[in-house]
This record gives sequence, structure tokens and C-alpha cells, in this order.
Amino acid sequence: MFNKLHKKAEKNSILLLVFVLITISIGGLVEIVPLFFINNTIEKVDGMRPYTPLEQMGRNIYIREGCYGCHSQMIRPFRDETERYGHYSLAAESMYDHPFQWGSKRTGPDLARVGGRYSNEWHLEHLINPRTYVPESIMPAYPFLAKKELKADDIEEHLKALRMVGVPYTDEQIANAKQDLLAQTMPDSAEAEFLIKRYGNKVPVANFDNNEEKLTEMDALIAYLQMLGTLVDFQTYKPMPR
Ligand code: HEC
Repeated sequence: MFNKLHKKAEKNSILLLVFVLITISIGGLVEIVPLFFINNTIEKVDGMRPYTPLEQMGRNIYIREGCYGCHSQMIRPFRDETERYGHYSLAAESMYDHPFQWGSKRTGPDLARVGGRYSNEWHLEHLINPRTYVPESIMPAYPFLAKKELKADDIEEHLKALRMVGVPYTDEQIANAKQDLLAQTMPDSAEAEFLIKRYGNKVPVANFDNNEEKLTEMDALIAYLQMLGTLVDFQTYKPMPR
């Protein structure tokens, strides 16, 4: 019977096409369906937490300015990459990213672990004019970020929307989003202590843009850059046995 069917299919291009599509779909489903059960797909790793409100706003600016057009955020498991950038990226490290920033183009270096590598002042001056530190740099200058006040009236709604797609923000984190946003730029304040209680002691707290008068987009972007890749402690991390 199969022999007959085979002959028929080979002579009828439409029929052949239908069979080819069925075969490919099965292969596709086998690969794709397990990914819907995301909890099985992503290995649990200690240290991961949702972004603080300020980091989340910085991330939005990163996306708005198209930084991903030149920077990837995924260190591949090859020696040349891990020697330069650090431990290869884990799936869990982008589990709260909506949308993820893996990228595929590296005009500049990978930024997945840039957090803590430079001082806040370095980032500030580098973003105002990259040529200050790297004379041959072709990165655009973003001086306006240091002048522009951070608009974040809708931060609570933003966190709520992220919670709908699976980021585990608590009611408390959402209710205090506005306070936490400011607190991250106020070192040694009581507000900063609450922020750290809510998000953990790895949260970088600083007056990122050296300007005490206003909360700028620069504050948010540097806060975001300074936490990238710092959440998982690779001194204690052990890959899951396969
Ligand atoms: C046209 C491409 C381009 C764009 C767009 C771009 N960069 Fe860069 N970036 C570079 C290049 C090239 C370098 C390396 C030279 C240097 O340090 O300036 C770099 C370096 C960096 C570094 C230092 C990384 C390291 O490990 O030394 C940071 C941080 C950075 N960029 C952040 C950003 C941010 C944030 C944005 C968006 C606001 C951005 N870049 C947009 C090209 C770009």
C-alpha cells in the first residue's frame, strides 16, 4: 500500500507538498512544544530577581535608543568569548527579559556582564562622549540622557504588565514602585534600605549621573548597565547534571 502511495505522491506535486509539510510540522512541534512549558526549559539558578523599577526604566531607554543594534547580551560558550566576557550566559539570566536583548550584531562588545566592570563615572562620561575614553570609538554620543528628566509616571502599570507575562513582582513591589525608583539614586537613605529589602543586597544604589537635582534618563540607563550579569554568583554556581 505504501509503495502505491509513494508512487502517487512522487507524481503529484501538491500531494507531495502536503506530505512534506506534515512531516516538517511534526519535527517542528517536537522542538517547539516543550518550550511552552518554560519552567522545564529554564534551569533554576540562585540569585535571579526581577529588575528594580529604575533598572527597568533604564532597560526601556536601552531599547528606545537601539543599543542592541551594536551590542549583544549573550556570551556564547566558547573559549574566546568566556575569556573576554566571563562565564557564558545562562538561560535563567534572561528569564525576566521582555523582550530579551540577546542580539546578533556586535559592532561594540557584548554587554551581558558589563555590570560592575566600570565605575558609574566611567559610564557617565562614556555615554556623554565615548571618545573621551576610547578615541577611536564609533559609538554615538548620548549627552542628552543626562539632561532629560526620567518620565516614569506609569511605572506601576509597567510592572503590572510584566507580571502578567510572568515576572514575579509582588504587590508590595508594585505599590512601592515610585518610591523605589527614586530610592535607587539615594545611597544611605531609609528608602534605599526598603528597596534593598525588596530586591536584595546586590542592587546598585548610587547617584549615577552625579546630579542631585533631578532623576534623569542617564540615572536609569547606568543603573541598568551596572547590574547586567551580576545576579548569579559564579563562585557557587554549578550546572545542573544532564
Ligand atoms: C553604532 C554602534 C553602537 C551603538 C548604537 C551603541 N554602541 Fe556602545 N559601543 C560601541 C563600540 C564600537 C564600543 C567599543 C568602543 C567604546 O568603548 O566606545 C562600545 C562600547 C560600549 C560600552 C563599553 C563596553 C566594554 O565592555 O568596554 C558600553 C557600556 C556601551 N557601549 C553601552 C552602550 C549603550 C548603553 C548604548 C545605547 C545608549 C550603546 N552602547 C550604543 C558601539 C555602539
